[in-house]
Amino acid sequence: MKIIEVKDYNEMSLKAAEYIIEKVINNPKIKLGLATGGTPVGTYKNLIADHRKNGTSYQHVTTFNLDEYIGLSGDNKNSYRYFMNEQLFNHINIHDSKTFIPRGIVKDMQAECLYYDDLIEKHGGIDLQLLGIGQNGHIGFNEPGTSFRSNTHVVQLAPSTIQANARFFNNIEEVPTKAITMGIASILRSKEILLLVSGESKNDAMFKLLNGELTESFPASALKKHPYVTIIADKAAVAGLK
Ligand code: F6R
Repeated sequence: MKIIEVKDYNEMSLKAAEYIIEKVINNPKIKLGLATGGTPVGTYKNLIADHRKNGTSYQHVTTFNLDEYIGLSGDNKNSYRYFMNEQLFNHINIHDSKTFIPRGIVKDMQAECLYYDDLIEKHGGIDLQLLGIGQNGHIGFNEPGTSFRSNTHVVQLAPSTIQANARFFNNIEEVPTKAITMGIASILRSKEILLLVSGESKNDAMFKLLNGELTESFPASALKKHPYVTIIADKAAVAGLK
């Protein structure tokens, strides 16, 4: 794992965007894996600014998001589909039909899980997967204890994750308790991974990622098994770790 240490959230966001833009320019048909949450918002802002200023094109780019809440349709403001449209897709020249997010409102969720991994495979796999990390080490919605062999699956969200995500909802009761997420194995099939980490609240997770063992009780440790992982972390996230 290669670590790029930056000053703060803004610098992380700029570096991450530069990283992604270079990949898109070099491979206009790139398959990008994308994340939601607070961490990548600044990166998406920079991608939009660059698209407007320099015309970087997403016309042939395909994206696959990591996860979605179960029970929220795409027009629900708290769905990850809505988030992605608002934060990125509506502001760049990407085709709707090339942006994929697991669907959280289909009848047969098991079929949706199989379909999603299959879809990624049919597109030749993800070239670059963007990730954030939860305070408990989750990646996607893969909570501690998730098998490293897991493909896309339905999860019961950990109380700590529901608590952390409640900030986006009117109250904690509105936060869905289940989600569909790419599994650890699905994530590790990506050819390359870019993990973004910002803020003191992620300091402990960074410590475990860098110094802890490979264990399913800390999902992000699976990244140690991947040959091509870059971490862009800010000072607060890595403070005192060296
Ligand atoms: C989002 C996702 C989650 C977040 C993680 C960190 O699609 O899969 O794993 O990356 O919960 O969230 P933030 O960035 O809000 O700290």
